[in-house]
Amino acid sequence: MTEQDLPATGREWHLAARPQGWPDPADFALVEAPVRQPGPGEITVRNAYLSVDPYMRGRMNDVPSYVPPFALGAAMDGGAVGHVVASNTEGFRVGDAVLHGLGWREYATLDAAHAVKVDPELAPLSAYLGVLGMPGLTAYAGLLEVASFRAGDTVFVSGAAGAVGSLVGQIARLKGAKRVIGSAGSAEKVATLVDDYGFDAAFNYKDGPVAELLAPLAPDGIDVYFDNVGGEHLEAAIGALRVHGRATLCGAIAQYNDIDAPAGPRNLALAIGKRLRLQGMLVGDHSALRGQFLEEVGGWLRDGSLRYDETVVEGVENTAEAFIGMLRGANIGKMVVQI
Ligand SMILES: NC(=O)c1ccc[n+]([C@@H]2O[C@H](COP(=O)([O-])OP(=O)(O)OC[C@H]3O[C@@H](n4cnc5c(N)ncnc54)[C@H](OP(=O)(O)O)[C@@H]3O)[C@@H](O)[C@H]2O)c1
Repeated sequence: MTEQDLPATGREWHLAARPQGWPDPADFALVEAPVRQPGPGEITVRNAYLSVDPYMRGRMNDVPSYVPPFALGAAMDGGAVGHVVASNTEGFRVGDAVLHGLGWREYATLDAAHAVKVDPELAPLSAYLGVLGMPGLTAYAGLLEVASFRAGDTVFVSGAAGAVGSLVGQIARLKGAKRVIGSAGSAEKVATLVDDYGFDAAFNYKDGPVAELLAPLAPDGIDVYFDNVGGEHLEAAIGALRVHGRATLCGAIAQYNDIDAPAGPRNLALAIGKRLRLQGMLVGDHSALRGQFLEEVGGWLRDGSLRYDETVVEGVENTAEAFIGMLRGANIGKMVVQI
């Protein structure tokens, strides 16, 4: 490996200002930065796909959380897949495809211990950011482990046309759910849920109060609620859950851009009489399931029983807009940026 093989500079995204409420493109800055040669034990990767994920919105606030906040005026990070273009370690060769955590940039030089090789023959590279990656494991673990899903359960999932939700509904169906119901934010997404992903019923939550839209689709109530949204959705699900029902609290995207404290759910006391279990989750706690997840989901992908979509935005210069678009619902399936 010689130094000539790397460009002198590459583009990377910095957080220019902490968003107040909804993020604005002006909160982000695309900066030309030196591409560092790999030191001992390091690799340099040319990123091919960048992930934009809802949790990144929380990292833009300067508050303590389970992941540290992005620093102002410094490169942002996040999931990415790409190819090794320079290696200073025995385990990785130029051309290897890898998954790592230095996204939001064209080139990343990192400790090879923080990169995982992925097989581009098994699945397109972008799948390792979605169906075979963090969102896929979230869906799998959140449904099967956290919600203790059992065949015969009636399952309701919100954010159902997104990366996590679209897989939750399909995994429930493949595992023998009695009924799978989803909510999403457009008529097109609702049609995708029923026609492409095999949900039994779906509704557009923008058409009216969630509880009223859910009730006729779940006349006997629900056993499991997979919550990607929080707020009104969670309140409606608490109302619809049957005795000993279980909810996975995976995300609360309806309030990620709120400045004021969220209003609900106002009916939490129902959890007492119904003996509900409402359990939060973080995907990082479930890495022991990764092998089983890859085997089972990989099998469903190969035999065509599980579908996945991606919304691909072209160009590193469009990453901030892709992120904001994802928060606004511009994606079906996983939102990724191809560079
Ligand atoms: N706990 C964990 O470890 C973990 C891991 C991964 C993801 N998550 C969470 O899981 C959820 C889904 O993540 P994802 O990566 O799969 O994202 P995603 O669903 O692919 O994309 C976000 C979607 O949220 C929906 N949305 C935005 N505002 C909404 C609102 N006010 N009400 C209802 N839906 C709204 C939009 O779709 P519509 O058009 O349908 O509105 C948008 O497409 C997020 O809450 C995320 O934070 C948690």
